[in-house]
Amino acid sequence: MNDGGGRQFGPLGTTLVIIPTYNEAENIKAIVDRVRAAVPEAHVLVADDNSPDGTGKLADEMTVGDDHVHVLHRKGKEGLGAAYLAGFRWGLEQGYGVLVEMDADGSHQPEELPRLLTALKGADLVLGSRWVPGGRVVNWPKHREYISRGGSLYSRVLLDVPMRDVTGGYRAFRRETLEGLGLSDVASQGYCFQVDLARRAVRAGYHVVEVPITFVERELGDSKMSRDILVEALWRVTTWGIGERAGRIFGRKPF
Ligand code: GDD
Ligand code: MN
Repeated sequence: MNDGGGRQFGPLGTTLVIIPTYNEAENIKAIVDRVRAAVPEAHVLVADDNSPDGTGKLADEMTVGDDHVHVLHRKGKEGLGAAYLAGFRWGLEQGYGVLVEMDADGSHQPEELPRLLTALKGADLVLGSRWVPGGRVVNWPKHREYISRGGSLYSRVLLDVPMRDVTGGYRAFRRETLEGLGLSDVASQGYCFQVDLARRAVRAGYHVVEVPITFVERELGDSKMSRDILVEALWRVTTWGIGERAGRIFGRKPF
């Protein structure tokens, strides 16, 4: 993560907000409406994993009469990481200049997106951050805060990345940044996908800026956080940390 070093950043281009969904029928309409109102020029892509509760069908209904709303129907539940990779691929093919990650449940407030996009004018990647001054979390149980803060601290120490909120999922990428991250070999499926992209951005020397956000815990529907997602995150972060250290000691290229 460098400081940008007086670099000139190009114009931003059209924004695509990617919203991965699995069983978000109670939330999908409200979140798409809020994005459309907060940043009317942006497009929205709902990446749905064939949600049993019909989220994909509700999303389809929102495309009627609104050419800024798109839906990517996926076969089944393959994890947040796979849904984002498919969404990024679609967005890059379509030629969008900015790709945004946003949860469907209202935790990432669309009304804060203009601030992230303003910051992106002078950065390669902007992270919405709960753990920088001015950032906060509303209505989170203590155990979720410990997991999130602990996960960020563990990742910071093991992977030697400077950001405060390494696991957060409210982010804005320039297309060139995504193109430089080597997405074709990302294997992370669950929430560690976020850590994976953060470390890749640091290794690639991108200028990453954290912008404080207020993360509001969902009121409707259920979190998809699970023991499996935690275990995957723990073993992957640990493996990356050991791999990079071994690479430094033995002079091999880190994997
Ligand atoms: N397509 C798809 N497939 N979407 C998924 C899947 C999946 O397998 N799993 C989760 N999602 C979607 C949810 O529907 C929601 O829109 C978003 O991903 C986030 O899921 P939540 O279940 O609401 O996550 P959370 O609130 O527990 O976790 C938040 O904090 C994590 C830790 O900081 C998110 O912001 C995560 O991105 C973040 O890593
Ligand atoms: Mn959530």
